[in-house]
Amino acid sequence: MSDILEAIEIKKRGGELPEHLIHSVVSGYTAGEIPDYQMSALLMAIFIRGMGYAETLALTRAMADSGKRYSFPGCVDKHSTGGVGDKVSLTALPLAAACGAPVAKLSGRGLGITGGTIDKLESIPGLSCALTEERFRRQVEEVGLAIAEAGELAPADKAIYALRDATGTVDSLPLIGSSIVSKKAATGAGHLLYDVKCGSGAFMRTPEEARELARLLVRLSGDLGIRAAAMITDMSHPLGRAVGNALEVRESLGFLRGEEAPEDLETVARAVAVRLLELKGVPEPERAVGRALSSGAAYELFVRFVRAQGGDAEALEELPLSPKTREVLSPGEGYVRSFDALGVGRAALLLGAGRRKKGEPVDPGAGVELLVRPGDRVERGQPVARLYGGRDVERAAGLVSGALRLSPEPAPPPPAILDSL
Ligand code: URA
Repeated sequence: MSDILEAIEIKKRGGELPEHLIHSVVSGYTAGEIPDYQMSALLMAIFIRGMGYAETLALTRAMADSGKRYSFPGCVDKHSTGGVGDKVSLTALPLAAACGAPVAKLSGRGLGITGGTIDKLESIPGLSCALTEERFRRQVEEVGLAIAEAGELAPADKAIYALRDATGTVDSLPLIGSSIVSKKAATGAGHLLYDVKCGSGAFMRTPEEARELARLLVRLSGDLGIRAAAMITDMSHPLGRAVGNALEVRESLGFLRGEEAPEDLETVARAVAVRLLELKGVPEPERAVGRALSSGAAYELFVRFVRAQGGDAEALEELPLSPKTREVLSPGEGYVRSFDALGVGRAALLLGAGRRKKGEPVDPGAGVELLVRPGDRVERGQPVARLYGGRDVERAAGLVSGALRLSPEPAPPPPAILDSL
């Protein structure tokens, strides 16, 4: 019997896959020797039967070893499980780098309603994230921050993820955990913070699910030699006011310049930078972060990073937004409780900030700007959001209007950080 058939037989009966079988199946699938229909059967068996910790670790190792591996033991990195308006990489990473923690980060593009850091950065004219290993390495040394598109790393995860996406097997804890950690292990940063998002705009809808994933990510990372920690942050409401590529870069620049920023963004960006500095052992991390913001050092580092990756730093002042705009009016009166992240994320995607199908180009100037914050009083007919972009505007307006949650009494905003481990 072939290894893939043996693996399917074992897993469909709820047995434990031995390590050698996991390695053989992962390398066979990556090499194109195992057909999609057999791999899909195994993934569905794993989805239904689950995997024990030893199997999950073996799968993570096999995927990490399936391509090139970088090594940046002195660097920090962070990984978000994906959210709406999630600009933590654009804010916390230059901040940590300006405090002496070099950052080597490989990022992805947007997936569904969740935005991707590469798409956001590419809204800066000229900026490219297609860096060779040599250039990536040099930039980490010279600037302290480099962000590149994951190319040859963990090719097994890329192939398996695409198959999971098409076979209803994405939302499995061991498959998500091994997918994320294999890419991080292949990137090779020695210190890693996971930002596990929780709420309607995230993979993990409840704090219990988010905690379970966070524990798995930290444990797998530790067993692969990475010093890791995790935070669970709210994604029931979009982070900050801006959702969309250029809109989010603009909001991030305001924060880095020390301008007034939405409280949730300020809280999460600062806390992530502080945790990264703690992992790296930088003394007095809170003071270092405060100084890097007030002195302009974090903003200057971001500008150096943009120039190093070919971006037009002069264009940062006025990144172009779509000229097609439309205001969304409040359907009622009361106090803003939140905007449901899922509805706002879907609207931004429809407007052009994300992809409706694989490979579709994004409109860098499209998205949603929220004009009111939790706790604000609004009257019926008052503008509560501004849409940018010319695609599906009516449906997007309906989604944003339907996402507004009002209450008759002022309600405290949800805490931005739900847990840390
Ligand atoms: N992000 C990943 O990289 N992999 C998953 O499986 C889910 C989210």
